[in-house]
Amino acid sequence: MSVSQLSSRTSGPSKRSQLLGISAIRIIFEKAQSFPDVIRLELGEPDFDTPQNIKDAAIRAISTGKTKYTSGAGILDLRKAISRKLEKDNHVSFEPTKEVLVTAGATAGINLALLASLEVGDEILVPNPGWATYVYAVRLVGANPVLYDLSSQSSYSFDRDGVEKLVTPKTKAILINTPGNPTGAVLSQKNLQQVADFAIDHDLKVFCDEVYEKFLYQEPGSSDLRHISIASLPEMKDRVVTINSFSKTYAMTGWRVGYVAANSSVTDAMVKINTASSSCISSVSQLAALEALEGPQDSVTKMIEAYQKRRDVTIKVLNGIHGFNCPLPQGAFYAFPKIQGTGYNSFDLSMKILEQAHVATVPGSAFGSNGEGHIRIAYANSLSNIESALERISKIM
Ligand SMILES: Cc1ncc(COP(=O)(O)O)c(C=O)c1O
Repeated sequence: MSVSQLSSRTSGPSKRSQLLGISAIRIIFEKAQSFPDVIRLELGEPDFDTPQNIKDAAIRAISTGKTKYTSGAGILDLRKAISRKLEKDNHVSFEPTKEVLVTAGATAGINLALLASLEVGDEILVPNPGWATYVYAVRLVGANPVLYDLSSQSSYSFDRDGVEKLVTPKTKAILINTPGNPTGAVLSQKNLQQVADFAIDHDLKVFCDEVYEKFLYQEPGSSDLRHISIASLPEMKDRVVTINSFSKTYAMTGWRVGYVAANSSVTDAMVKINTASSSCISSVSQLAALEALEGPQDSVTKMIEAYQKRRDVTIKVLNGIHGFNCPLPQGAFYAFPKIQGTGYNSFDLSMKILEQAHVATVPGSAFGSNGEGHIRIAYANSLSNIESALERISKIM
């Protein structure tokens, strides 16, 4: 029997799946395939290869038969290593057997965290602009995303007065992302404390996406820029769900491995859902991730140094292009220039740049209404590709 022979009651996709739109990133991605010489600055994906020691660990795992199901929460040695990492880097203690879960990247981590924490009809505060997947993930669990403004005028920091007006009896949580996609903004300790006070005052959960925590760029002469985990602030640990990943830090996007750390009742619920939906994460990827955490970290340092150089070139050149104005992002690997001076809206400008300069970027509108007036340029590409791409853009503007 073919799909066309089924009645409309049985043949169509679920209403839930129809809540997920096609993202502008996808449209650009598909169209970019038709230009053989395209330079891709649209994807949030490191161009670096996964470090060799990590690949070797995966090969060893396969050769020695570590190819079976693992615990639904993840291999215990990996959870212990994650817990040590959280203690050392993030100054917060999580019990590896009860408070840590290995996930299929941060994407699955976010979905599991929401599924385990929210009821249908609950409201959750989501950043605007923010990573588009947040809104989709919230809708998928039947909750309602309520967008809060991040403004370029205040360096995309959390503005308590603005957010306060959005709280209703249904508000259950707030989601934050630092360093942020698409803005590259890093929330300061003072600003995170404001988020914490707000969450405590309204008894909200906090979901914190920290996948870019290592992507911080120190400026000569300025005070030390540090990533602060909101879970480490006083009285916060139990209300925070921390989401992180190996994808960006270790250039491991295709391995699909990340983790979530949360109080034991949320973790227990996430483990149950993870086990029911996928049993466990690939054993080979988990053992590669263990090596990523426990092995030498010099490749991470080298990659971050390269990103900093790329960032500096990207921002300098962008600010010389007609109609572009780009503040210096402190973190992640994205430039988010204002483009109002070009006279185009963000989708039309991204399309023009793709069609005329053969450079793929993302329209800011893909990240929420406050993203309009910007485009996102990922500098996760070689310096020579970045330079050629920007030269091409500059020629058509
Ligand atoms: C803010 C943010 N969180 C999560 C992810 C997804 O990470 P993962 O590959 O671990 O699912 C991305 C990917 O672009 C991202 O930008």
